[in-house]
Amino acid sequence: MRLLFLGDVVGRPGRNAVIQRLPSLRERWKLDCVIINAENAAGGFGITEAICQDILNAGADAITLGNHSFDQREALVFIERQPRLVRPANFPPGTPGRGAALVDTRAGARVLVVNVLGRLFLDPLDDPFAAADREIALCPLRQVADAILVDVHAEATSEKQALAYHLDGRVSAVVGTHTHVPTADHRILPGGTAYISDAGMCGDYESILGMDREEPVRRFLQKTPGARLEPAAGEGTLSGVAVEIDDRTGLAVRVAALRLGPKLEESRPVFWEEG
Ligand SMILES: [Fe+2]
Ligand SMILES: [Fe+2]
Repeated sequence: MRLLFLGDVVGRPGRNAVIQRLPSLRERWKLDCVIINAENAAGGFGITEAICQDILNAGADAITLGNHSFDQREALVFIERQPRLVRPANFPPGTPGRGAALVDTRAGARVLVVNVLGRLFLDPLDDPFAAADREIALCPLRQVADAILVDVHAEATSEKQALAYHLDGRVSAVVGTHTHVPTADHRILPGGTAYISDAGMCGDYESILGMDREEPVRRFLQKTPGARLEPAAGEGTLSGVAVEIDDRTGLAVRVAALRLGPKLEESRPVFWEEG
């Protein structure tokens, strides 16, 4: 199975990069499953129903979220009728939506998508380790799910690594999101789980984490109230990770970084480019 994950979509540049480039990538690389974190897709803050639909129409099978899940209040309502939209599993009981989704690929495989939110340098929440264990116990690899991807939306790389080794061998991939900066530590762990500390963002990298630079820089210089944060308006870059999964074991056999667009050094999954 060929699985592509793309990191936090930020504003229109991120959306445009996904909408313009994903359909042809999906076809060219014969992708079976595409999962995209879109917690910043609507003006940098949250997601609307129309944007959610645009990203699904572009070729995403599932969309994950994070600490910005409900910045657009309409998400509290439409998440209930959108089974492919997943918010952190360790949000408090009673939070609208779901923390995991079992999606069918076009070839008939079932992929469990789980989203958890880290607790270091973020809001105190339920234990993300226990939440991931719970979701995986409901749909174990090889018994119910043909592949499992866990999006660990967290600030601290230590917490992401700890969760990855905790889940190693029980899931196909653990992918970090939230920092908006791609890391170069993608690899397959000893138990067969693909891992990257952060998938990076889909957005304009000539920015502060996808946002126009002026106001964030000003906020570091002065402590006075200022303008709203707005997404930077330059051309977006796609950033994420490509994972090839063994259909028999559900574990990863290859992993590569994907970076496509201006401003970052390009990186493509050569094992899919060749054939
Ligand atoms: Fe984000
Ligand atoms: Fe985030």
